[in-house]
Parts: sequence; C-alpha cells; structure tokens
Amino acid sequence: MLLRMFLAFPLTFLLVNGVTILVGVSIMLVQDWTLGLVILVPAAPVLITCVVFEKRYSGAARRAQDQVGDLTTVVEESVLGIRIIKGFGRHRSQARAFRELSGKLRGTELHKARLLATILGVIVTLPELAIGAALVLGAVRVADGSLSAGTLVAFLSTALALRWPVDSIGFLLAMSQEAATATERYFEVMDAEEESSASAGRRAAGAMGVPPLERHDCPREHGLVFENVSFRYPDAPAGSPPVLHGIDLHIRRGESLALVGATGSGKTTLTALVPRLHEVTSGRITLDGEDITEMSREELRSRVAVAFEEPTLFSASVGENVLMGGGAGADDLGRALAVAQADFAHALPQGVDTQVGEQGLSLSGGQRQRLALARAVVGRPDFLVLDDPLSALDVHTEAAVEAALRRVLADTTALIVAHRPSTVLLADRVALLSGGRITAVGTHHELLRTHPEYAHLMSGDPAAEQEYQR
Ligand SMILES: Nc1ncnc2c1ncn2[C@@H]1O[C@H](COP(=O)(O)OP(=O)(O)OP(=O)(O)O)[C@@H](O)[C@H]1O
Ligand SMILES: [Mg+2]
Repeated sequence: MLLRMFLAFPLTFLLVNGVTILVGVSIMLVQDWTLGLVILVPAAPVLITCVVFEKRYSGAARRAQDQVGDLTTVVEESVLGIRIIKGFGRHRSQARAFRELSGKLRGTELHKARLLATILGVIVTLPELAIGAALVLGAVRVADGSLSAGTLVAFLSTALALRWPVDSIGFLLAMSQEAATATERYFEVMDAEEESSASAGRRAAGAMGVPPLERHDCPREHGLVFENVSFRYPDAPAGSPPVLHGIDLHIRRGESLALVGATGSGKTTLTALVPRLHEVTSGRITLDGEDITEMSREELRSRVAVAFEEPTLFSASVGENVLMGGGAGADDLGRALAVAQADFAHALPQGVDTQVGEQGLSLSGGQRQRLALARAVVGRPDFLVLDDPLSALDVHTEAAVEAALRRVLADTTALIVAHRPSTVLLADRVALLSGGRITAVGTHHELLRTHPEYAHLMSGDPAAEQEYQR
C-alpha cells in the first residue's frame, strides 16, 4: 500500500517540484544574480536538515512498520485463538498486550510527527526569511535606481511561485522514506533463499561423506527407503543434537510401516522429510530407488500424499477440500469419503458442496480429521504418509476407518505414525523411534514381547514399565 501510494503521488511531485525549483532558481539568477544568491542562502541549512532528518526518520519509520506488524500479530492471534482466550479468561491480558503495543506504536508515530514538524519548520521558515531579505534588498536597490521595479516584481513573483514546491519537500521526503522502508521489508521476504530444486541433498550427502549403503536385504529400488538420514532444524541452537540421526529404514513396496515413539521423539519431523517440507541434513531418501532430491518437488508431491496431525481445511466446499489431494471426480470423491468413513459429508445441508467455513471450523475435530484422511487417499497415491491419522476418532469409527484403510494400504507404500495399538495393527511392521534413531523394527507382537520400551509405550503396563526402567 505504501509503495502504491508512493508511485501514485510523491514520486510524480518529487519530479515536478524538483524541476520547478531548478528552473525557477535559474530564472531568478538570470533576472538578478545578487538577489538570486540571497534566495539561495537557506539552501545549505535546508539540505543539511533534510539529510539529518532523513536518517532519523527512516529509523523511526522502520520501527513503526515493525510495530504495526507486531500489533497485527496480536490481533490475529486473539481472533484465531478466541476460544482459548475465552476459555482461560485471558481477555484482560490480551487487551493489555494490545494496549502496550499500540501505546508503543503511538509513541513512535508521535516521534515521527515531531521530526516532520521540525523539518517543516525549517523548510518553511528559512525560505520565507530569504524572500523577506530579498524584498528589503531589492527595495533599497530600486530606490538607488540600480534595479527596475519591474525586475523586482518579476523576481519576487518567481520566488513566490517556488513556495509550494519547496514547502512540499518535507512531507514528500517523509513519504519517500516510508516507501523506502516498506521496500526494504518487502525485499527481506522476496530475497529469502529459494528452495533448491534438485540434487542439493545429494551434494550435501556427498559432502558429508556418506558411504553408499548396501545393507538392505531386499532390492533398494523398491519402496520408500531412508539411508543414514540425519536431520536438524536449521534454526536449532548451535551445538544441540540433531532431531534425527543415522535413520535407516526400508518400507517395501506395498508394505505399510507404523512409526511409534514417545511424544517429541521426531515422528512428525521424519514424516515431513518425505514430501521435502524439510531437507535432510545428510543421508538420502529414495522412492522406488529414485532419490527424492533428484525429482522436482511437483513430481515428488504428486507421488506422495500426506495427512498431518493438524487436519487443515480451507474455506471451500467439502468436495473441493478432498479433491485437493488429486482424483478426478465424483467417483474418486465418494470412494475416498468411504475409506475415511467421512460419509457424514453426504448428510450435510448441501452434501459435498457444503462450505466448511474458515479453516473448517464448522466441523468437529474428528470430522476434519476424516476429511484430511480422505484428501490423502483420494488420488490413489503410490506413497502415503499419515501422521497419527485416527487420533480424534471414537473406537467404532476408528475400527471402520482401519478396515477401509487396510484395503487402500494393500497396494500403497505407507508410513503411518501411530500412538495407539489399534492403529499400529493396521501396519505390516512397526519401527520404534527413540533418541533420534530407529531402535527396533518388527511386527507389533514381536516388539511387544522383545522390546520393553515398545511394550511400555503401547500398553502403559506396569510390568513392562518396570522392565523398561531396569
Ligand atoms: N520447526 C521446528 N523448529 C525447531 N525444532 C522443532 C521444530 N518442530 C519440532 N521441533 C523439535 O523437534 C523435536 C521432534 O518434534 P516432532 O514434532 O517431530 O515430534 P513427534 O514425535 O511428532 O511428537 P508428537 O508425538 O507429540 O507429535 C521436538 O523436540 C521439537 O521440539
Ligand atoms: Mg508429531
């Protein structure tokens, strides 16, 4: 908005007024150069004031724009989190935060106004004094007879014509400064490094000296394979251990593998690596033998479908939300809704054309989750990544979804994060993620028998817990 305003108004006037001042001053110098010099005397102090002002003002403008950003964040969070705020009776502290930030912003804006007042004072007063001086000097010289009255009148008319162009410089400069600061903020975002499209991961892996791995017992070309994958968040504090390290995992083609681990162990992080929402720090991930960094993101994401913990829906119809995951039409939509046990969609007022409202908040948590699941399966993806897809469902619905999912999963390679034994049982095998590594892989019953940590996670059984603690 600031840039648009700058282009529409101050830019034009800076040009027009700049040219007017130059031409006007030249004419005055030609008419009478001594009087012209008198008029030019304030130029130096005005210029100095402008330079000083510009520096201070741009600092204040930047601060004000940042503060507007902070204030907007508070307002946005208060609106989105209105239920939490009401539920915990936090409206006073939110209001206080708003008042504090808006008070700060008001202070900065007043500071800006004071700066502007100073420069306007200088820019308006000094030229007026110079014109006054020129009038006195000119009158004396007309009396002496060394200057004609006509020249003096012409000279002063020219000087007066320059008053508005000079006076306007102050706020034109201020608006330009605002625009410059806004441009700076704009390019801070636009200059963010673009995601590398291909082979960056491979180069990184090469640089880390990862040896080629041949230790998998079935052909590497098939399925979803993690090879010595390590990952740390780029913004993690230096020296902190990576979230995942040395992950070796082979999900065979058509197999489904459940990923189990304590909360915070890195399951969501691991699943986010497959569609390249984050880049592996070292190691590599392959789909049917093809390194995911060698594919375009578009291709990769068309082959991998995801459903995350937070089922995010968009303000569109139920059908549009589901078909966002691929699929062609009503048939695919119906099938996906059936798999996800989301048949409630047909009973909505306008069926699948019902709008779900902003963020899908007109639906229940479990309904949203089932639609997100339908979105993941609608495109019949080769690879399916599900992050705890059934957590919000009651046992009966969960069982029904599982039965349907099992049919889908039969020919899909799937990685499913699970917390509950019933979800784990969907999968052919289970992998346990602990301390950033895969510490065990096997079937649910095997691990339940042989791995105390797993038994502890799955059952909360005191006997298993004691065993685990030992
Ligand atoms: N964007 C992020 N930046 C930095 N650290 C993060 C980020 N997201 C997660 N982490 C950290 O990574 C670790 C693993 O988080 P992750 O979300 O993968 O856990 P999780 O196994 O999915 O847990 P849960 O079962 O609760 O969903 C946590 O310690 C978390 O603090
Ligand atoms: Mg998680």
